[in-house]
Amino acid sequence: MYHRKSSDENEQYFLPADETEFDRLDMAHHLQLLILDGELHKAPIQNDPANVLDCGTGTGIWALDFGSIHPGSKVIGVDLAPNQPTWTYPNVVFETDDLEKEWTYQKNHFDFIHSRMVGSAIRDWGRYTRQMYEHAAPGAYVELSEHSMWTYCDDNTQPPTSISLTYFTHLTAALSKLNIHTRDFSSRFFRSHLEAAGFVDIQVFVYKVPWGTWPKSRKFKHMGAVCSEVCRTGIEAYGLMAMTRLLGMEESEARAICTEFVDTMYKAKEHIYHLQ
Ligand SMILES: C[S@@+](CC[C@H](N)C(=O)[O-])C[C@H]1O[C@@H](n2cnc3c(N)ncnc32)[C@H](O)[C@@H]1O
Repeated sequence: MYHRKSSDENEQYFLPADETEFDRLDMAHHLQLLILDGELHKAPIQNDPANVLDCGTGTGIWALDFGSIHPGSKVIGVDLAPNQPTWTYPNVVFETDDLEKEWTYQKNHFDFIHSRMVGSAIRDWGRYTRQMYEHAAPGAYVELSEHSMWTYCDDNTQPPTSISLTYFTHLTAALSKLNIHTRDFSSRFFRSHLEAAGFVDIQVFVYKVPWGTWPKSRKFKHMGAVCSEVCRTGIEAYGLMAMTRLLGMEESEARAICTEFVDTMYKAKEHIYHLQ
């Protein structure tokens, strides 16, 4: 059976936790910067917010970048797995904890809570956003940044038999076995959870992120190339474990789907993108 080093012995979180995945997460951070035109966030942060929480910090790259340009902020990067560097800036600390459990931080405490790409991990978005609200200080900003786990196409170059649709159909089915329902993800889904938790002044930004170098404009062609690099190992990171372990598919079959998807993405004949 396919196995890459996992982040969590209980397999609560199904993505691998090895050097390949850490490199992918750092490249994904670069992709996020391209999407946000070089910014680390959309929230209109002024000066250095005193207390900042980065939820599901991964390699800690966002927390470190934020801490380096906000030396007056105290940044906590929290993750289920201790995969962050031991060297950090003096104002950045990493903690190992499970954000799906009761948060032990002070209530009304954080001035900025940032949560990016934890969609493949959080089962109960109602509870997650309620805990954010309880632990946010009055006037704080909370930023959720998630991507669709599905690809779209605006010009009919993606046939209904596209390997991308096959792949995401399997991934959706696999994740739903973990009670993670990625087809629900939409700006309306996240907005309604934030509203129900009590947040106000909610702003939604939606971006199309190309897979492959098919866009004509220089900016999006570059973004598509970087996205391909993220997805080159990401397709396997998400797909192999999900299809073999959760759906019981033979490794050879799952691997063939992943390989064909990567090949199709690099050929860039299907003008596909995901929504962020
Ligand atoms: C796809 S990575 C995103 C990393 C980072 N946010 C970024 O944008 O670079 C998702 C991270 O969420 C963490 N995670 C998953 N479930 C979690 C939980 N219940 N509590 C805390 N962290 C969790 C994983 O260990 C992983 O590092």
